[in-house]
Amino acid sequence: MKFENSLSFAKNLDSIDELSSFSNKFAFPKSKRERTLYFTGHSLGLMPKHLPQIVSEEFTAWSEKGVEAHFLGEHPWLPYHEFLTGSLAKLTGAKNSEVVAMNTLTTNLHLMLVSFYRPKGKRTKILIENNTFPSDRYAVLSQARFHGLDPESTVIELKPSGDGMTVGIDSIKKQIAELGDELALVLLGNCNYLSGEYFPIAEVTKAAHEVGAFCGFNLAHGVGNLELSLHQDLVDFAVWCSYKYLNSGPGGIAGAFVHEKHHGNKSIPRFEGWWGTDKSKRFKMEKHFDPIPSVEAWQLSNPPIFQLAAARASLQLFDQAGIHKLRTKSQKLTGFLAFLIEENLASKLSLITPTSRGSMLCLKLNKGAQKLEKDMVEKGAYVDYREPGIIRVAPMALYTSFSDCFDLVELLDRSL
Ligand SMILES: Cc1ncc(COP(=O)(O)O)c(C=O)c1O
Repeated sequence: MKFENSLSFAKNLDSIDELSSFSNKFAFPKSKRERTLYFTGHSLGLMPKHLPQIVSEEFTAWSEKGVEAHFLGEHPWLPYHEFLTGSLAKLTGAKNSEVVAMNTLTTNLHLMLVSFYRPKGKRTKILIENNTFPSDRYAVLSQARFHGLDPESTVIELKPSGDGMTVGIDSIKKQIAELGDELALVLLGNCNYLSGEYFPIAEVTKAAHEVGAFCGFNLAHGVGNLELSLHQDLVDFAVWCSYKYLNSGPGGIAGAFVHEKHHGNKSIPRFEGWWGTDKSKRFKMEKHFDPIPSVEAWQLSNPPIFQLAAARASLQLFDQAGIHKLRTKSQKLTGFLAFLIEENLASKLSLITPTSRGSMLCLKLNKGAQKLEKDMVEKGAYVDYREPGIIRVAPMALYTSFSDCFDLVELLDRSL
């Protein structure tokens, strides 16, 4: 699409945006501006206005029914996580039996590594992103150590291209092929948290499988942002959080995907808890663990209902809008923002995110990035700062308008 550098052009795009009414369903933080420009949904998504109501239904259930709320009412607590399954399956392109809402992101990553990082003989290496989010890095290094391996030589980071940030799928495939039968696991994000580069899941998974490695993804920057087809792409496992693009609130319930090809496999090691055992026998308090024949076997504990309720409220909006329409708008929105940045700010900063991306754009400044973040937030425009010198901005298809993108770039220009 050909964009124009004007507010009237942005307003015109807003007027034909069929998802524009969703913005009213979110609470924007108060600021000096009449409408706060919120471009940090990649860090913490905005609160859906109806979310407190959905959560408070569970406070009411607790106060009125006590322990019996596990079994009574429209949304009994015992199977509560199942009320999220259909929505999560749609967002991830999975079968219902392959997705579950549970725990937190790094916890789920460890649980998956227990099952899918099984070093044997010379097949010990884990390939991760360059600029991996620190928690992912700590997780794989500690898993290597747990297996008695030297973490520094076991965990291999992707080598970036000349820009020092992005990699590119051809290079990823080459690096996987070079590691060959030494490679036990490829673990990438879906979009890198620092460069915004998108890693094509199907191609990476195919390349990993070709050398006999497992392949898993951290979808912290993927779920709710991109259209996913985890089942079809034969991904072994995936994990995600819900407080970013999924707007379920700080520390919200995370999720996990395990491909159905692994469900019945008794040789897969797994850390187990009573929520993973056959539901019909759970309260028989048997000594024997009988895994649920789905990803639910990976559940450990009875889950936090208030967190699940918050996530359920937010997922209702994704169900209403549909991820295909959201992604289509998101591509246009991010394309427009990238165009405005290139047109107006190219002499002051560089856009490092390639066109293969989700909604987040990463801008590199030679100096003053941290100050810029502070200035912008003070003016009512939320952007965030990450070392080294990177400002991240992400328009969200659910609540960002094309006019917001125009206003943001104008403010960035003035602040710079
Ligand atoms: C890519 C990535 N991995 C891991 C984490 C850590 O998540 P948590 O604190 O929910 O375990 C984050 C959080 O922002 C992240 O962006």
